[in-house]
Amino acid sequence: MIELALIGIGTGSTGHLTREGVAAMADADLILIPSKGEDKADLAALRQALCRQVLVSPPPLAVFDMPARDVSDGYRQGVEAWHDAIAARWEQVIRAHGAIRPALLVWGDPSLYDSTLRIAERVARRLPLNLRVIPGITAIQALCAAHAIPLNAVAAPVLITTGRQIRDHGWPETVDRLVVMLDGECSFQSLDAQGLHIWWGAFLGMREQILISGPLPEVAGHILETRARARAEHGWIMDVYLLDRCRSR
Ligand SMILES: C[S@@+](CC[C@H](N)C(=O)[O-])C[C@H]1O[C@@H](n2cnc3c(N)ncnc32)[C@H](O)[C@@H]1O
Repeated sequence: MIELALIGIGTGSTGHLTREGVAAMADADLILIPSKGEDKADLAALRQALCRQVLVSPPPLAVFDMPARDVSDGYRQGVEAWHDAIAARWEQVIRAHGAIRPALLVWGDPSLYDSTLRIAERVARRLPLNLRVIPGITAIQALCAAHAIPLNAVAAPVLITTGRQIRDHGWPETVDRLVVMLDGECSFQSLDAQGLHIWWGAFLGMREQILISGPLPEVAGHILETRARARAEHGWIMDVYLLDRCRSR
């Protein structure tokens, strides 16, 4: 039986790693590191650096090329085929190394906007596999901590969504608070900014961390400029934000 560990590593700070996470890394006999070549946003280098920083004698690190995603036949179908191709690649790497305790380092936590668990399910159809998940600090927790704010208003719900969802469907009726992730286009621009408050963060947990907050009409321009500059400077960016529409009521 192969024991596959999916280890949540937090959002870029070694301080985010839990003791359980470090122990699982140390226990692995192979750490799989997916790479997209020149793409800095794949964070392959950062994952390798993390292993060297926290482990006295890291297990072999298997850096492997990620298959390309092709959504020309439709988004859902393209993603399904892509996940199949990634699962086949994992299987190949695990078999090639004869690993019995392989591990993957999952950005943030594996449960949140991440396909690692879906891919692991596919691998389990091909290999005898026991799956172990070690939770990590999410970008949402890192955002709230950095701004020193609670995620929810008293006894109120919060919706976690994507930039595309708010561009395509606007502000959902049922909630007053949104967390927006996976937003390469500052989709808050598609909303009526009046009465909205934003807490924005980029590179959370990392040396480059940037935070901006305030009434959206006052800070939107500043966020747009700061984001564009930081993206140009680093070659990539990850950002997340919390929006509230009743703070001013
Ligand atoms: C594919 S999702 C992965 C989320 C991850 N599993 C988690 O638990 O946070 C990537 C999105 O998470 C957010 N994110 C992840 N790391 C971040 C960071 N260090 N700073 C700001 N946002 C981050 C961004 O919205 C990014 O588009």
